Amino acid sequence: MSKSTPVTAIAPPDRTRKEWPKHSAPATIDPARFRDVLGHYPTGIVVITAMHEQAPVGMAVGSFTSVSLTPALVGFFATRESTTWPKVREAGTFCVNVLGEEHQDICRLFATRGADKFAGLGWEPGDSGAPILDDAAAWIDCRLDRAEELGDHYLALGRVVDLGAKRASGPLIFYRGDYGGYRRRSAVNGPPAAGAAGR
Ligand SMILES: Cc1cc2nc3c(=O)[nH]c(=O)nc-3n(C[C@H](O)[C@H](O)[C@H](O)COP(=O)(O)O)c2cc1C
Repeated sequence: MSKSTPVTAIAPPDRTRKEWPKHSAPATIDPARFRDVLGHYPTGIVVITAMHEQAPVGMAVGSFTSVSLTPALVGFFATRESTTWPKVREAGTFCVNVLGEEHQDICRLFATRGADKFAGLGWEPGDSGAPILDDAAAWIDCRLDRAEELGDHYLALGRVVDLGAKRASGPLIFYRGDYGGYRRRSAVNGPPAAGAAGR
């Protein structure tokens, strides 16, 4: 833009308009289409664990996110249909276990209702009492701060009480209904090690 180009003020939105423009009109969204389109957004996978009546419980979750640094808060969305979520809620504490790319089988196990989810898996209790899985690439131990019903899910917000990273394996990534790993493209942290490019 040259210096002499006049700057035109952007017209304020017309707040008297009664109808939404056609392209943003609220509509009934077909659930299959919603799933398909939203599936284009990749997620990592965590296992949310808790102790309920002296037994470990857990569920695979892709909707985990960090929320706030000060205070340290994290969150995830739990479906109303989950039989694990009410137990996590009742426990009042939970641990977020970040899965590595080789842990597809653990993800499937923790996504299966009624499965013996902890059979053959090593774990130890964190400060909150919730299980930290031996296989977790990283873990975040939390106290449940609040749970809020949003549509057909609950937003679970956790206050972080302790956390750690156990090893530098690549993360498990869920994308368009399938599992994959992380492939580094930039050199922000220095050049990739020989043979590591395109992993
Ligand atoms: C890749 C993947 C991501 C998932 N993400 C979520 C999630 O964010 N929230 C949720 O409530 N369930 C999620 N699930 C489903 C739960 O793992 C599963 O419904 C549940 O743990 C099994 O039911 P149960 O809790 O009744 O045992 C996910 C499943 C998979 C395979």
